[in-house]
Amino acid sequence: MLGSGQLSSRGTAYLCLLTAIGSLFTPALAVKENDFKKCHQSGFCKRNRAYADHVVAQGSSWRSPYKILSEEASFKDGKLQADILKTIDEQGATVRLPITVSFLKSGTARVTVDEERRKEKNIELRHNSLARKERYNEAEKWAIVGGLEIDTDAKVSYDGNSGINIQYGPDFKFEADIRYYPFSIEFKREGTPQIKLNDRGLLNVEHWRPKVEEPVPEKKEGEDSEEGKNGEVEAAEVTPSEDQSTWWEEKFGGNTDSKPRGPESVALDISFFGYEYVYGIPEHAGPMSLKETRGGEGNYNEPYRLYNADVFEYILDSPMTLYGAIPFMQAQRKDSTVGVFWLNGAETWIDITKDKESKNPLALGRGARTNTHTHWISEAGVLDVFVFLGPTPRDVTKNYAELTGTTAMPQEFSLGYHQCRWNYVSDDDVKEVDRKFDKYHIPYDVIWLDIEYMDDRKYFTWDPDMFKDPISMGQQLDSHGRKLVTIIDPHIKNTGNYYVSDQLKSKGLAVKNKEGKDFDGWCWPGSSHWIDAFNPAAVDWWKSLFKYDSFKGTMENTFIWNDMNEPSVFNGPEVTMPKDNLHYGNWEHRDVHNINGLTFQNATYEALLSRKDGELRRPFVLTRSFFSGSQRVGAMWTGDNQASWEHLAAAIPMILAQGVSGYPFSGADVGGFFGNPEFDLQSRWYQAGAFYPFFRGHAHIDARRREPYLLAEPHRSIATAALRLRYSLLPAWYTAFYHANQDNSPILRPMYWTHPSEESGFGIDDQFFVDTTGLLVKPVVEKDRTTADIYIPDDEVYYDYFTYDKLPTNKGKRLTVQAPLETIPVLMRGGHIIPRRDIPRRSSQLMKYDDYTLVVAVSRDGKAEGELYVDDGDTFEYQNGQYIHRIFKLEGSSLTSTDAEGRDVKSIEEGEWLRRMGDVAVDKVIIVGAPPSWASKAEVELETEGEKTLVKLDYHKAKGGKAAYAVLGRVGAKIAADWTVNFV
Ligand code: NOJ
Repeated sequence: MLGSGQLSSRGTAYLCLLTAIGSLFTPALAVKENDFKKCHQSGFCKRNRAYADHVVAQGSSWRSPYKILSEEASFKDGKLQADILKTIDEQGATVRLPITVSFLKSGTARVTVDEERRKEKNIELRHNSLARKERYNEAEKWAIVGGLEIDTDAKVSYDGNSGINIQYGPDFKFEADIRYYPFSIEFKREGTPQIKLNDRGLLNVEHWRPKVEEPVPEKKEGEDSEEGKNGEVEAAEVTPSEDQSTWWEEKFGGNTDSKPRGPESVALDISFFGYEYVYGIPEHAGPMSLKETRGGEGNYNEPYRLYNADVFEYILDSPMTLYGAIPFMQAQRKDSTVGVFWLNGAETWIDITKDKESKNPLALGRGARTNTHTHWISEAGVLDVFVFLGPTPRDVTKNYAELTGTTAMPQEFSLGYHQCRWNYVSDDDVKEVDRKFDKYHIPYDVIWLDIEYMDDRKYFTWDPDMFKDPISMGQQLDSHGRKLVTIIDPHIKNTGNYYVSDQLKSKGLAVKNKEGKDFDGWCWPGSSHWIDAFNPAAVDWWKSLFKYDSFKGTMENTFIWNDMNEPSVFNGPEVTMPKDNLHYGNWEHRDVHNINGLTFQNATYEALLSRKDGELRRPFVLTRSFFSGSQRVGAMWTGDNQASWEHLAAAIPMILAQGVSGYPFSGADVGGFFGNPEFDLQSRWYQAGAFYPFFRGHAHIDARRREPYLLAEPHRSIATAALRLRYSLLPAWYTAFYHANQDNSPILRPMYWTHPSEESGFGIDDQFFVDTTGLLVKPVVEKDRTTADIYIPDDEVYYDYFTYDKLPTNKGKRLTVQAPLETIPVLMRGGHIIPRRDIPRRSSQLMKYDDYTLVVAVSRDGKAEGELYVDDGDTFEYQNGQYIHRIFKLEGSSLTSTDAEGRDVKSIEEGEWLRRMGDVAVDKVIIVGAPPSWASKAEVELETEGEKTLVKLDYHKAKGGKAAYAVLGRVGAKIAADWTVNFV
């Protein structure tokens, strides 16, 4: 049945592959922390940290070698243009670094620094390199989709020899104070300093210089340089002592990076005045509130690293890099949020320190406060930083989204449950799992195929023995509205008689090595080439591969998983590509590494859009690697976690970090990828997973089968209840995604985001609100724990979601609730209305035309409000008005439903979906916290579509701890229509 023979042979095949790859490089299963660089092993990071140490040691005698010549600076039409001069030797020689400071209509400021000589391509490359000579300046092409209109109203309020002051933003509340020497830019809001660039003088742009062929002492890999050790000034430079040993070549893990352009890093310090909390810069496995990184108790010793990597078996509470990178950070203090976006696709490190004493004279007399100082260090590219001045988390989120885009409207099914494992071994196996879910009445939407479904790991093929009839498999799934996701990775097996490989090579669409030949590396299929998705021609070709008549065996209900797109290269440095590989346009891999994953997911997204002429359906593509902008394309998950309680706990801050960093469609492998979760852990994981925006169970090939129906009781019922809860709340989830589509607000909202005035909540990352629903969730993530301590951020009333208990809450305090294994701690905040669908069915597709239930949680002052957005969940017809968008309000003695946008819905021409929705009604309304005055009522009046009818009301008095609640049954008000229920 489960094809265990096949499974073990696959497992053996995998082990054989690893053995075959041999000891030349580290196979993925054994990847450990030491396989990845620490700052001191990454030449440019080490140099910039040493620079920072030197500056700190110099104290007030430090003179930054960077200055702007006032006579050359000009401000016009919302832009300051000037050159920064960097003094490079004691004779006063300088290099020019063109700087542009632009003020955007959105209120965002952008600072870009390039290097004249490289910009003019006036440099010599070493080793006959074919690489581009300029600093990479195309990150914007991939990350930015709007928001760049210049605010030509930005005005000069001071212009003198020492600097220039620009007022900009809403009502000119923002100010940029640009100092020429020492160069710095201070950003103020309403006169108060918020963010300062180069506050500490750590700006460092490593200019081009020819290599002086002097004998350099031979050094072994990983050995500290002498220069670095004793701090002597070696070169005749005014910049501090530099370790030049990695300027021209760098070795790590048996690989040599040829560095044809020499040292070229860009670094800058950014200070946040009065801000103790900073969040963002995923992906890391650690607390949402970022830690200090230069030692000290409880702090890290390493900077946060962004260098997308296949970190198999990653460790927790670490600044170590993971699979994706979003260089966006926000800072939070009471009633104020600001942020920065460091647009750079190269390897990046970020040091964070905090000081408790106020060094800012403007704050004198206001008592000591905490400032956060950050130091951003990227290996290459132009320096490009955006500054957001808030003042709310929502403002900063919105400003970042104006640049990088919002969350794609998802396929509705993708909010349901996904069942994955490495691997379902045959089409019969898939059919059997599908039947079992039905047998046990467990809902699910999608079953996934990992890398074993193919013929010999050749993408776009099927194993001829095990997947003989993929169409009949797809049809069985489709008969219950279910979908199939198959994995397609970016490495293409390098073998003859394989059309995909033949075409990739003959069309010249693969990533090249430094000699300009197709790069060959190892991944799952063995020797492979990688599609270069930076190349538009490669994207066109990729699209051709997904056509239904090309990728035979796929159907309308097949969707795609993109894995290993960091890219993962088993025999490459740090399990990825050599940095001197070349991409489209001859950009080095070094320049674009962190963007690579986005380009591949993007290509697949485009491919799914064009599978068939005239078919316009929303793609679903899951990615492991990501960059700023990936939110426009699909979902991500947190990679190879482990079946442990610690990993269950770690997933929540990681998902929260994704959400506040502009990528809310995220999840973690439910159950844990590696290992076998004990039943309690697996049950708790389903309870937590039911609240992940992306909800998928997955397991490693060596893990035991663990589909939820295999759990013994009571665990099976516990997991089933969590899954059903997810399904009943799908209308609320879909509405949440609609919000994320509008302004990219996080779907899971941490306390600081919803309550930016409550400092006591700023460090909390183990509980969250779901969108605007008022649902406050704190999954239990500890073994044997049967209570939960929930932080209460405000004075509103809170009810238990399941029991309607009115809870004895206190603002700023923790409330302990009972949470035995079968219970998920979920509270309802008063003042919200939650849309649900209560009939349990097999898949979301089968619930499409079900009636709704509204759950009204009455606030302290007797009100509530909620929202429902719904469309066909599949096509782009919503862009033609084919959607329903309601606001529900309880106010005084009436509950109303009106169009959220004030549209005259009758004037909308109905397509098929909207027409069918015309029959869908609100069947039930549950009002928790219903006033005692309703107790005497048995019926209330419903007014809709010009008619008045009576609706039955069941009133339940407050009892014990339970709030009074009323239930309206068989309401029958149409979901698309306006209606009012009068309780008088
Ligand atoms: C690595 C992914 O992270 C994991 O989810 C997947 O199962 C394996 N690759 C095999 O494709």
